[in-house]
Amino acid sequence: MNKKIAIIGAGGFGREVKWLIDSINIQTKEWNFVGYYDDDLSERKNIAQKLLLGNISDLNSIDETLAVVIAIGNPKVKRKIVEQLNNLNLYFPSLIHPNCLIGNNVVIEQGTIICANNILTCDILIEGFVTLNLACTVGHDTTIKSYCSIMPSVNVSGEVLLEECVYVGTGAKIINQINIGSHSTIGAGAVVIKSVPRNSTAVGVPAKSLG
Ligand SMILES: CC(C)(COP(=O)(O)OP(=O)(O)OC[C@H]1O[C@@H](n2cnc3c(N)ncnc32)[C@H](O)[C@@H]1OP(=O)(O)O)[C@@H](O)C(=O)NCCC(=O)NCCS
Repeated sequence: MNKKIAIIGAGGFGREVKWLIDSINIQTKEWNFVGYYDDDLSERKNIAQKLLLGNISDLNSIDETLAVVIAIGNPKVKRKIVEQLNNLNLYFPSLIHPNCLIGNNVVIEQGTIICANNILTCDILIEGFVTLNLACTVGHDTTIKSYCSIMPSVNVSGEVLLEECVYVGTGAKIINQINIGSHSTIGAGAVVIKSVPRNSTAVGVPAKSLG
């Protein structure tokens, strides 16, 4: 029997994650999509009205088993939502588009979203609630810690460490053996050739910290 699943976040990425669920279902018929939860009721304009089922806190009173996926880009907002949910009926599967290439000894923790066309090679740890948006590559011996969000077409090389809650803008490249400190942001198109301290924003080619 297919399992019920809801998406938190009814914006554009939420609809892309719905497509990801549809893509998985073509192969496995695994999921029964029930609708979206969002605190911003204006997101109703983005989706069929009956599919917005309520506020995020409403999930804490669901009385049946429900899979939940958090389709939110901002790492801190993702973490706050996870901390807010305390209902043991909820669980957080990892969703991986069927066309991704996942190599040897790649560990993917709960709540992770891996969109179409990602390639992860070998000996990689993807912690909980990470988002890998479309068409990223992740090299050997890399760790991406909880809540990181990696936007489309990012290349993360080998032996890289992304600490918790890092946001990497679209098209950025991170060369090998780089550490990105927690809560830092890498700008779109940046080429990161030196480690980035926590709580900072680095942009450009080569990437330099703002401010
Ligand atoms: C890095 C980023 C977060 C900075 O946003 P911000 O804090 O609002 O910064 P600002 O727009 O005020 O820009 C500050 C300075 O950095 C520069 N800058 C910002 N982003 C840059 C980038 N990606 N590359 C090079 N320079 C950049 C600006 O030109 C500006 O320079 P100036 O002070 O000389 O004028 C943002 O520009 C970015 O790249 N976001 C990624 C978005 C993305 O990938 N979205 C994908 C959605 S799927």
